[in-house]
Order: sequence, then C-alpha cells, then structure tokens
Amino acid sequence: MQNIRYQSLISEIAELEKNRKFCRHTMEHFLDTARIMYILNLEENAALPKDVIYAAALLHDTGRAEEYRNGTPHHKASVDIALHILPECGFDESEIRQITEAIDRHREKTVPSGNRLGELLYRADKLSRQCYSCGAADECYWSDDKKNHTLRY
Ligand SMILES: [Fe+2]
Ligand SMILES: [Fe+2]
Repeated sequence: MQNIRYQSLISEIAELEKNRKFCRHTMEHFLDTARIMYILNLEENAALPKDVIYAAALLHDTGRAEEYRNGTPHHKASVDIALHILPECGFDESEIRQITEAIDRHREKTVPSGNRLGELLYRADKLSRQCYSCGAADECYWSDDKKNHTLRY
C-alpha cells in the first residue's frame, strides 16, 4: 500500500472508470478478492501464505489502465506491473513466479493443475462480484458461467 507506483495506478484506474457502469477495479474489488481468496484458502486447507494471496489479489487488475489506453489485455499488463512492484515489496523469485502465473491466468477457468493460487484467484475474483443485484448484468461481457449468481461470501 506504500508503493508509489501502486498508489498512482489505483488513482489512474479510478479516474478512467469514473463513468463506467460495469464493475470497477477499485481497492474494494482488490480487497474483496483478497479476503475471499483467504477464506477459500482456510476452508480448503490450501495453506497458501497470506502475503502471497494478498499480493496476487491486490495486483491482478492493475493493468486495467493500460488496457483502456492501448488495448493491451489487462492480465498481461498486470503481470508486467507485478514484475516491477513485487521485488520492490520484498517478494522472492519463487513467490514472484507463483503470483505472476496466477495473475496471467486469472481470466481462464481452467488453470493448470498445481497452480492453486491461480485457481483461488479465478474463483474469488468472480465470487467478489454482485452480479445477482447488478443493473448492467444483461449488457455485461462476462458469460453466464462467469457471473456470480449467488451470495456466498
Ligand atoms: Fe481481471
Ligand atoms: Fe478482478
């Protein structure tokens, strides 16, 4: 949260999304995703470290600003950003590999086996959204199976 690059990305995304009617990519979304990942981690005894979970969730959509600016898919842009920010925050090489793989695959339902962090990120990202009470659900690009129809967490 002290990282200057991270802070400026959050402000930039908020500005770019201020008139967006679909889900926004705010700190609320990042923290909802982190906390749901952590709940799933506890419920399913995945034993993933809390800081790795929070890093993946807090960084997974940071590439949104670049996507709006030049069309780069945001999961790819988010990986590039994470590769800069994670070393600045003291994560080691193996943690950085694990986190960036999870971010890279966060839009794919089928994450490679062994990528537990990526699987939890995919699920928590969807579970954090309130599609069941969203006025723009009919126009949303998410397929029906991605939408969250039930309040669970
Ligand atoms: Fe995303
Ligand atoms: Fe997301």
